[in-house]
Amino acid sequence: MGLKLKTVVPWGRSLDEYIRMFALTPGDLQLTLLDCAGGPASFNAELTGSGGRVVSCDPIYQFALNEIQQRIQDTYPLIIAGVSANLNRYRWHSIQSPEQLGEVRLKAMQQFLADFPNGLATGRYQVAELPTLPFGDRQFDLALCSHLLFTYSDQLSVEFHLASIQELCRVAAEVRIFPLLTLAGEDSPLVPIVVDTLKQQGYEASIHTVDYEFQRGGNQLLRIKP
Ligand SMILES: C[S@@+](CC[C@H](N)C(=O)[O-])C[C@H]1O[C@@H](n2cnc3c(N)ncnc32)[C@H](O)[C@@H]1O
Repeated sequence: MGLKLKTVVPWGRSLDEYIRMFALTPGDLQLTLLDCAGGPASFNAELTGSGGRVVSCDPIYQFALNEIQQRIQDTYPLIIAGVSANLNRYRWHSIQSPEQLGEVRLKAMQQFLADFPNGLATGRYQVAELPTLPFGDRQFDLALCSHLLFTYSDQLSVEFHLASIQELCRVAAEVRIFPLLTLAGEDSPLVPIVVDTLKQQGYEASIHTVDYEFQRGGNQLLRIKP
């Protein structure tokens, strides 16, 4: 895996944010879950702590704890500066300022860092990179993918998106992707192409509005079932 750590911008969300981004019900949280592109989110640490069954995969897990920690420290001020320079791209409701955003994200990433060594040793964190995953067919009930697909629509092709979603549908009975906006906060131009193509291939694909909006207009997920 040729990922260079200096190209990664680690940014992690919490269990509460995952619940709202993906409209996860108490029943969903009992399922066997995959958090694909989990990065330094605290979803796995928090859910495991409350008895959930979740595997997170991400190419960033190939790096050592102190390397990921250092990369978070290096990129954190740049991300907060970028958000501060584009305040109107975000809805400042449950998170009220860039400073508070920083606190919330750092707390989640610190929970991830504290959990990473144990989770890596027990296989809850696995090094893997879309569009090919090292998991069995239908190993998971539900796969989640937050802030990778569609977010990087300018860097990841429609072919990459389709191959990645097909792979996620191979390993899980249902896939949810959030958000459907690009990093710049625009509707991803890939969404209609991907949805139409998946439907033509026989997948169920539907867009749902969720009770979470931080990026302005970013309150929709794509749900796919094989
Ligand atoms: C912005 S972070 C999102 C982290 C987490 N899902 C969240 O919402 O808090 C994007 C993550 O995608 C990971 N990533 C990049 N390319 C990937 C690929 N081909 N397959 C899986 N993950 C990838 C990065 O390493 C990074 O951790």
